[in-house]
Amino acid sequence: MTDLGRITTDAPPAAWPEATPMHDSYGRRINYLRISLTDVCNLRCVYCMPENMQFRPRRELMTDDEIMTLVKVGASLGVTKIRLTGGEPTIRPRVVELIRRMAAVPGIKDLAMTTNALLLEEMAEDLAAAGLKRVNISIDTLDPEKFRRITRWGDIDDVWRGIRAAEAAGLLPIKLNCVVVRNFNDEDVVDLARLTLAHDWEVRYIEMMPFGEITDFQQSNVVSFRQMRDIVEAAFGPLEEAGYDFVDPSRPFRIPGARGTLGFISSVTEPFCQGCGRVRLTADGKLRLCLLRDDEVDLLTPLRSGATFEELRALMRDGAYHKPWGHGLDQGLIAQGRTMNQIGG
Ligand code: 5AD
Ligand code: SF4
Repeated sequence: MTDLGRITTDAPPAAWPEATPMHDSYGRRINYLRISLTDVCNLRCVYCMPENMQFRPRRELMTDDEIMTLVKVGASLGVTKIRLTGGEPTIRPRVVELIRRMAAVPGIKDLAMTTNALLLEEMAEDLAAAGLKRVNISIDTLDPEKFRRITRWGDIDDVWRGIRAAEAAGLLPIKLNCVVVRNFNDEDVVDLARLTLAHDWEVRYIEMMPFGEITDFQQSNVVSFRQMRDIVEAAFGPLEEAGYDFVDPSRPFRIPGARGTLGFISSVTEPFCQGCGRVRLTADGKLRLCLLRDDEVDLLTPLRSGATFEELRALMRDGAYHKPWGHGLDQGLIAQGRTMNQIGG
């Protein structure tokens, strides 16, 4: 058997000697790792962080090598999918090189990113060449003024240029994420849906989730899946179901005859925890077991104090085993520890 020891080089074995898949105590297979590369963002969306957000000092964030070690730990435990998030992942220095290294890890089949697309015009080609497969892009409205209001200063033209660059670079399929906020963009879901008539994109509407310091705002302005669907159907008529994948939180529908699809992510009103195989790595190196719960396992401190690869594997495996069944929103449980930019959505 290969000695895993401390893996410090960038030359991984052709396959992990024993890629025993991680499971949690409910039997869910954990194979999807979402990694927040930085808590910093070049926008300040109202549903994501307060305007005066304080970011973490650099030394608290994982270095590239530390991220790579934890990616290898995950891969050796059966992680096959990685999504890079933030904050805004494209603003992390040397992110292209980091992606190249991740794409070379045996077992990592799906490498994706969630981004606000502001920097994609200049970066999409390099990201794709490095091994990134696809991107989810946040766009909550097509109205430039409202876009600026929701993001606090963003220019929607940058997003359009980013979307075109992503398409040209083959970062497909393009998925557009829209967090729906009452009195900000609840009527805009119609314009976004219209995009799917001519484009083979998936527009995904996300129920706003409550956490951290901005809970009151989030809870009083959530728009439910049912309400979003009613708004879209009032404009286009009944939607057709477009297949359903148990592990995908997004429930896909189609406007009859449209090229693209509409997905609804109903985390608040109709949770999909039963199919969840995700764990998250925060930018400061904590394994977060559920987006909406504060349960975390610190991996960075042991890593910095010299834990072996085997010890890190045991920590990640045990952490994943204790993944909570679901978020407790319906029991009034709200995660307070972090805002979304520190977890990565
Ligand atoms: N509720 C739901 N999704 C959110 N995001 C940020 N804040 C929230 C929230 N309160 C998601 C957005 C964005 C990604 C970075 O995080 O979908 O695309
Ligand atoms: Fe940045 Fe995305 Fe948060 Fe908006 S939602 S502030 S783009 S991390």
